[in-house]
Amino acid sequence: MADTLQTPLNLFDYERMAAARLDPMVYGYYVGGANDEITLRENRESFNRISLRPRMMVDVGERDLSTVILGQRYATPIITAPMAFIALAHPDGERGVARAAGSLGIPMTLSTMATTSIEDVAAERAGPLWFQLYVYKDRGITRWLVERAETAGYEALVVTVDSPLLGKRERDVRNQFHLPEGYTAANLNDPSYRRVSAVDQGSGLASYIASLYDPALTWKDLEWFASITKMPIWVKGILRGDDAQRAVDHGASGIVVSNHGGRQLDTAIAGITALPEVIAAVNGRVDVLLDGGIRRGTDILKALAFGACGVMIGRPILWGLAVNGEQGVRDILTILRAELELAMALCGAPTVNEITPDLIV
Ligand code: GLV
Repeated sequence: MADTLQTPLNLFDYERMAAARLDPMVYGYYVGGANDEITLRENRESFNRISLRPRMMVDVGERDLSTVILGQRYATPIITAPMAFIALAHPDGERGVARAAGSLGIPMTLSTMATTSIEDVAAERAGPLWFQLYVYKDRGITRWLVERAETAGYEALVVTVDSPLLGKRERDVRNQFHLPEGYTAANLNDPSYRRVSAVDQGSGLASYIASLYDPALTWKDLEWFASITKMPIWVKGILRGDDAQRAVDHGASGIVVSNHGGRQLDTAIAGITALPEVIAAVNGRVDVLLDGGIRRGTDILKALAFGACGVMIGRPILWGLAVNGEQGVRDILTILRAELELAMALCGAPTVNEITPDLIV
């Protein structure tokens, strides 16, 4: 299908344009969720079910989107989510995301499964970088990844805890998803760790993860991560208050409420639905971020109203990249930021601190 949209106005326009451009195996990998994709859809629908209760006659002549996350002030409450194999969307790849996000003061989270290495992305840094960790059975590799991120100046570690095995993504099973020739998981050294090859049947990524990631990870291991790094640790993939409490008790600096974009356990609760329970459980002891299904500025406002300090944006970054490389990512983030600013103005909340729970039902 040729691009019929001249000027994309919103993140959905970018998604349609990206769908028309990307190779079907790559698009299927990016867009897909687990099993029947019920959680994937629920991530969107749950936002649509929440209504806003705007305040009128508030002076919103000046608006300030800046916010404090883990004690540091950031330009906006937006962070780019970790995503694997970004260079399949566009040659600008992870470097382009780092430059685009950084130019707006937005932290970029680099995935362990990146197509560009920790060091090469750090060399392009225009702003803060965070590193997402998948835990390999080989703790030597795990420690080496963490140490490299810290040495290269990454400011936070995001440990993904929802993936002892990969969810059943049937699009990837059908397409026998693998890394095409010329691409590698660039952060790993051993050639067998760098390749995500096609397998006889099913998803090459699912086989890779089943053979190399540690499915026996428990809360004790979190203490080990905290002992080998000075970076603050976000625990990503939490959907329950009691797990959030355990994460804090074992050394987490923050929680990312996430169902991995609907890609792991299908029919799992949407992040925005789980958020109030997590906020209540941590009771201000640590910061909480939300990801999953955020496509509008009003979605960000709703997450903040429930008590999140910020949000992670995933797939739309890939759509921006696929459509127009680094500039496309900048456009996506700029659209979201402008939508958030407008939503704040129309809700009578000129600062992030004024985005309070009474704004939502
Ligand atoms: C990789 O992290 C994925 O969820 O596909």
